[in-house]
Amino acid sequence: MKNFIRKANSFIKDLLLVSRVGILLKPFRFAFGFVYNFSLLSSWVNRHSKNVPFSDFYKPTRSYANRVKLHEHVIKSQGLDQKPIHYLEFGVAGGTSFAWWVKANQHPGSLFFGFDTFQGLPEDWHFFKKGAFSYDIPFMEDARGTFIKGLFQDTVYTFLANYSRNVDNPQATRVLHLDADLYSSTLFALTMMAPYLRNGDILLFDEFNIPNHEFAAWNDFVRSYYIKYEVIGAVNNFYQTAIRIIK
Ligand SMILES: C[S@@+](CC[C@H](N)C(=O)[O-])C[C@H]1O[C@@H](n2cnc3c(N)ncnc32)[C@H](O)[C@@H]1O
Repeated sequence: MKNFIRKANSFIKDLLLVSRVGILLKPFRFAFGFVYNFSLLSSWVNRHSKNVPFSDFYKPTRSYANRVKLHEHVIKSQGLDQKPIHYLEFGVAGGTSFAWWVKANQHPGSLFFGFDTFQGLPEDWHFFKKGAFSYDIPFMEDARGTFIKGLFQDTVYTFLANYSRNVDNPQATRVLHLDADLYSSTLFALTMMAPYLRNGDILLFDEFNIPNHEFAAWNDFVRSYYIKYEVIGAVNNFYQTAIRIIK
């Protein structure tokens, strides 16, 4: 019986492949993908929402200013104002969040790296077209800060080769701020950072609860790299979410 089911399964699948059913299904791809990722996101939120030490879930309205409260909480709860950090921001745009972190941590041993095309998004994202968020490289007076211009896919390999050889400091907690909006960019940044993650490193997501983008990237990353973590804070119903790596 099992053999028959296996054979029937292969036969039907191959028939569907040869029938090019993909052309018929194409208009539904986004909807199917959204429903799939939304169901994963909803289960994820249900699983985590009761144990998050700093959270506003559920709140009927969102305020972007709440992300500052989340970042302040992360700094206080992890003692990040008293120690060196390596802050890597993926998606800098005009540099608002980058400048905030440089000011919030004054430790002389801290370093801040900001990655961006500075020519805007490399793909369309929701209502935003490719090229949205294009800014000049921000002015940075603090010598601890560096901007790396270009697609992550072109710059991060070289950056990390030098970082791991000459810059990395086991005493510094890494704070990765993932604010590139797109699935592809977020997954690429996470994947590149995977070999370097240490116990206690912090990941900040700026658009975490968007099912097909940052959330899908995080979910695929966790599944593929067997990442262990705890959620240490969330605001705006998990729109901004802070995660601590456990190793
Ligand atoms: C929402 S903006 C960042 C906002 C900023 N963190 C803030 O809060 O002030 C997203 C940025 O990600 C950048 N970005 C997205 N994907 C990228 C990629 N693959 N390589 C380089 N930059 C990327 C875009 O250029 C854009 O400036």
